[in-house]
Amino acid sequence: MKVKNICCIGAGYVGGPTMAVIAKHCPDIQVNVVDINKERIERWNDNDFTNLPIYEPGLEEIIKKCRGKNLHFSTEMPQKIKDADLIFISVNTPTKTKGVGAGQAIDLKYVEESSRQIAKHANKFTIVVEKSTLPVKTAQTIKEILNASTNNKQDQKKEVSFSVLSNPEFLAEGSAISDLENPDRILIGGDDDKSIKALVDIYAHWVSKNKVLTTDLWSSELSKLIANAFLAQRISSINTISALCEATGAHIKDVALAVGMDKRIGKYFLNSGPGFGGSCFKKDISNLVYISNHYNLFEVANYWQKVLDINTWQQRRFINLIINKMFGTISSKKIAILGFSFKANTNDTRESPAIYICKKLIEEGAILNIYDPKVNFQQMSKDLENNDSEMNNDIKWRYSEEVYDTFINADAAIFLTEWDEFQNLNWQKIKKAMRQPAFIFDTRSIVNIKEVKESNLKIWQVGYGY
Ligand code: UDX
Ligand code: UDX
Repeated sequence: MKVKNICCIGAGYVGGPTMAVIAKHCPDIQVNVVDINKERIERWNDNDFTNLPIYEPGLEEIIKKCRGKNLHFSTEMPQKIKDADLIFISVNTPTKTKGVGAGQAIDLKYVEESSRQIAKHANKFTIVVEKSTLPVKTAQTIKEILNASTNNKQDQKKEVSFSVLSNPEFLAEGSAISDLENPDRILIGGDDDKSIKALVDIYAHWVSKNKVLTTDLWSSELSKLIANAFLAQRISSINTISALCEATGAHIKDVALAVGMDKRIGKYFLNSGPGFGGSCFKKDISNLVYISNHYNLFEVANYWQKVLDINTWQQRRFINLIINKMFGTISSKKIAILGFSFKANTNDTRESPAIYICKKLIEEGAILNIYDPKVNFQQMSKDLENNDSEMNNDIKWRYSEEVYDTFINADAAIFLTEWDEFQNLNWQKIKKAMRQPAFIFDTRSIVNIKEVKESNLKIWQVGYGY
């Protein structure tokens, strides 16, 4: 079976870049990305490429090359489902906010709705691929929904049937295009060899076959969850050590370097910081805790819960430390916030440590000036809004358009995201702009410490005991 037409439901951070790279490498395949969000689709189709809904280095070039040729963005879900030989489900999978499993289990309502749409509109044999990270055994749910509909429609559409595959995406935001272009591995889970081969053939356009792993559906689903849990666990581990370094006078970067050079450990994911953010880690570990408890594996659940606990502990620790260093109060003090996205090179703020930290600083009475090279004012407003009518957000924080303006009259500056431009700042200029004595809090350990010290500013860096 050869796939000639792909539909992807969900034009988000995963669906958009993934389909762009498939379209780039497979000119013989028509790729249709559909989404229920009309505004998002309009932005994908905008001729002003700076208005694309997602910022990823290298994405704009691919959209320019492929859009309108074999890459299309629309809201016409029924038609694109009908046309497709293979459909990726790439919708968001938030944590449940109410009901059974609230705060831990994943809400599958969008996946379920997408499956129902596929069941309703498909009119031939169709391969359905889960791309979203999902709880183990979700493929079974998708299968049941699809099969129920084919049973109902047996008289009218004898030729309709489905094969369900799991093909989790491992891309990280900020490096999505290079991760997709050169993946560590492609993982495909399923029980129908012909469908698996059809999907392998798509990736074979640019990925060597020895990087493609195939397994059963459940192992594939679980592998994705565990890969994220292991990555997050490394961050919590190094963050506990950052506190120990500060207490004992060691230097976290030297420790991480020495530890990471052991090839059994490896050098990646050993940067201490304000804790992990992003749409996946917290959600996936919460889900791992939930399923472990479900299977009465309480020790397993407690172990992974600690990874989450350390993440919030690190953020709380920073807030207390900032207040202590600023003579016990930040009320009415101006604080510059540098970076709002959850990591560099993305405009995504989901679960960004900056949200929690900024809200807490505002609660303590500080007035914030927030700068981020890619996050816009509307997004910050949405993230910082609260329901407390006493609190006037307009006064509590301001959006800064320019990096140096952010420091004007500030008593402190807190670096929260590791954007490149923060690594080469003119510290003499900053010193003049700030109210003295001024404090610099570098939660990512990225600023040029020598230059900051030369300009006589007080500096604290994560994981550095002086
Ligand atoms: C990611 C991943 O797919 C998931 O694995 C991860 O765990 C969290 O979310 P992402 O692409 O980052 O998805 O999410 P998002 O940027 O929110 O995009 C999802 C898109 O699906 C949205 O544009 C939304 O409008 C769309 N959607 C959602 C539909 O088109 N139909 C629906 O029924 C629900
Ligand atoms: C992650 C996984 O890396 C990816 O494989 C999966 O598909 C989705 O989830 P993402 O969340 O986009 O990707 O970014 P990632 O680079 O993993 O960073 C996650 C968070 O951890 C960020 O807040 C980042 O700043 C933080 N982090 C990362 C650290 O604090 N220290 C590190 O050493 C690495």
